[in-house]
Amino acid sequence: MKARVTPIKPAIGATVEVDRADLCDPEVVETVREALERHSVLVFPRIGVSDAEQLAFTDALGPRMEFGTPAPGTDTQMPDVYKVSFEEALGGRKEYVQGTFFWHIDGVMMDRPPSKATLLSARQLSATGGETEFASLYAAYEELPEAEKQEIEGLRVFHSIEPSMKLIFDDPTPEQTALWRGDSRCLRPIVWTHDSGRKSLVIGYSADRVEGMPPADGRALLLRLIEWAAQPAFRYTHKWQDGDLVLWDNTGVMHRVRPYDETSGRKMHRTSIAGTEMVV
Ligand SMILES: [Fe+2]
Repeated sequence: MKARVTPIKPAIGATVEVDRADLCDPEVVETVREALERHSVLVFPRIGVSDAEQLAFTDALGPRMEFGTPAPGTDTQMPDVYKVSFEEALGGRKEYVQGTFFWHIDGVMMDRPPSKATLLSARQLSATGGETEFASLYAAYEELPEAEKQEIEGLRVFHSIEPSMKLIFDDPTPEQTALWRGDSRCLRPIVWTHDSGRKSLVIGYSADRVEGMPPADGRALLLRLIEWAAQPAFRYTHKWQDGDLVLWDNTGVMHRVRPYDETSGRKMHRTSIAGTEMVV
């Protein structure tokens, strides 16, 4: 056995011990795929991949997500490696990093399938904060009481970047609000039935209001579901060590980073596996 998988919690998380040189071995790739489906978040402790190795592993797991327009400062040799840091925030706009302090699913409001999975490797850590937290939206749905499953069945929710931006800016201008609400606002079902037949919640701080519900009632429902999904049994908090690589199922997990010092130089390299399913 070239890869050894050890569960972290029954509902979420596993560590994978594997030699870095074996990451793209077909047997390892198959083990990792199965483990990802079962455990949702996989930690490769201190594996220390280079950008080229991370991209090769990403490609071995599935077609990578290609970034049409590389962010400023992107390494032109590695345009599909996205650098997550305050220094390299897209267009110098640090709110894009601060927005990740709040629970979310990557790409949920894009007009294409959200990425299937995300790989994040630690390149430079912050001395304080910066832990990444994950919550299983499969477990959160499965364990909901039957009456609550029925209560939310068929509901649709508006998502945009506005709700998380409002948590960052105290007094947004009408122009800012219009911009945030603008193109990104979209409707998604609150329960996603995947092609596999599994179901998961589609929630996070991109969720603004519930279609056909008074705003207060809708927000109360959404906050209750976030609190439910983030309970310790469904949540894994990753405290990063140098060289750690974490891979998670973006379609059934919400994540956030605990705030960290902007001047710490914390830097993570992210690659993504393209999604194939729209949220329906
Ligand atoms: Fe994210």
